Amino acid sequence: MFETLKPMPPDAILGIMTLFRADKDPGKIDLSVGVYQDEQGLTPVLASVKRAEKAIIEAQDSKTYVAIAGNAGFNSGIAELLYGKDHPALKGGRVATVQTPGGSGGLSVAGHLLARSKPNARVYVSDPSWPNHIPLLKMSGLELETYPYYDYAHHRVDFDAMVGKLDKAKAGEIVLIHGCCHNPCGADLSREQWEALTQLCERRGLVPFIDLAYQGLSEGLEEDAYGARLMASRLPEVVVVSSCSKNLGLYRERVGAASFVSATPEASKLVLANASNVARGIYSMPPDHGAAIVSYILHDAGLRAQWVKELEEMRGRLNGLRKLLVDKLAARKTPIDFSFIAKERGMFSFLGITKEQVIRLRDEFHIYMVESSRVNIAGINHSNVDTVADAIAAVLK
Ligand code: LMR
Repeated sequence: MFETLKPMPPDAILGIMTLFRADKDPGKIDLSVGVYQDEQGLTPVLASVKRAEKAIIEAQDSKTYVAIAGNAGFNSGIAELLYGKDHPALKGGRVATVQTPGGSGGLSVAGHLLARSKPNARVYVSDPSWPNHIPLLKMSGLELETYPYYDYAHHRVDFDAMVGKLDKAKAGEIVLIHGCCHNPCGADLSREQWEALTQLCERRGLVPFIDLAYQGLSEGLEEDAYGARLMASRLPEVVVVSSCSKNLGLYRERVGAASFVSATPEASKLVLANASNVARGIYSMPPDHGAAIVSYILHDAGLRAQWVKELEEMRGRLNGLRKLLVDKLAARKTPIDFSFIAKERGMFSFLGITKEQVIRLRDEFHIYMVESSRVNIAGINHSNVDTVADAIAAVLK
C-alpha cells in the first residue's frame, strides 16, 4: 500500500541543514537552521545545563514513567517563567501547563486541544511564519488562514494590514502570534501594538495562541514575555507554547510546553484533563531528561543565575552580530540598505534578496540560508563576517 504515498519535498529548513552537512568545502558557512552558534561556530551545551545534568544523573535511581503531563517541577517553573510568579491568572488557578516534546509538540497538543474544543476552528497565522506552523497545525484538523504581517519594502511590521485582516475575524477564532523574535523576519510587535492587539482580541472575542519559542533572546526573559503576560491578564482564554531548545540550548532533548489560560479554575481543570488526554493519544508521555534539567535549573538559585547570565551572553552576542553585519555590508556599498537588520531581534532576519541570489550564495560561495533569504544571525562570527558580506555584495552586483 505504501506505493500510494506521494513523494515529499525536502523540509524548507532542515533540508538546507542536510545540504550544508553534505558540503565538503572547509569554508562553508551555515546560516540556515535556527540553532545558536558561538564565535567558534559551535553549539555547546550550556555550563548550567551540564551542571544540572550531572546532578540529575547522579541522583537518579529509576527510569520509571513520570506522568502524561510530564515533570511537575518543570511545568510550574515554566508557567512562572512565562507569566511571572504573581500573575493573576496563575494565582487564580486559571493556568494549566503540560510539558511537551519540544515547542513543536506543544503546538501539536495545543492544536488538537483547540480543535477538540471547537471543531474546524480557524487559526490565523502570520504571513510570513515559521514554515512548519501551517503543516503542523493542519494535522490537528484546524482550518488555517494567514494574516499579513511583514512589510518587505520597509522592513517592519505591517500592523495596519494585520489589524485590517484580524478585525474581520469571528468570535472564537484563533490568532497565532509570535511572542518575540519573529521567525522568520525578526520584526516584533511594539508594546503599543500588543496593547492594540489585546483590545482587538477583547473586542472581537478572538483567542490568542502565542508561540514563545525564543523567550530571553530578544530583550530579556521578562521583557520578551510582555505580550503573553498582557494578553493573559486581560483575556479570558490564551494559549502559550514555549520551547527550551533555544534559550537553554536543549534542541535534541525536545523540551517544550503548552500552557493554557482559561476563564475559570473549573475550565482550567477540564483543559488539563483534555490536554493530558490529547498527549496520551499522540505520544503517551514526553521524554523526561531535558525537562528534569530545566526543572533543576529553574528551582536552584545558583544554577538559575548562571543560566540567566549565559542567556544574556547569547542575546548580547546576537545583537552585536546584527550591528557588525550591517556595518560590514554598508562598507561594501551594497544596493540594499541593510540597516534594518540591526533593529530586528532574535536569531533571524530576511536579507530581502531573491531566491536565485540565495542559491548562488549556496552554490558559488558555500553560504547556506533558507530560500526565503532568512539568515540565522548566530551563524555569523568575526572570522566569517567578511566572507559573508563579500558574497552578499557579489550576488547583488
Ligand atoms: C528554525 O526555524 O530554524 C528552527 O525552529 C528549527 C526548526 O525546527 O525549523
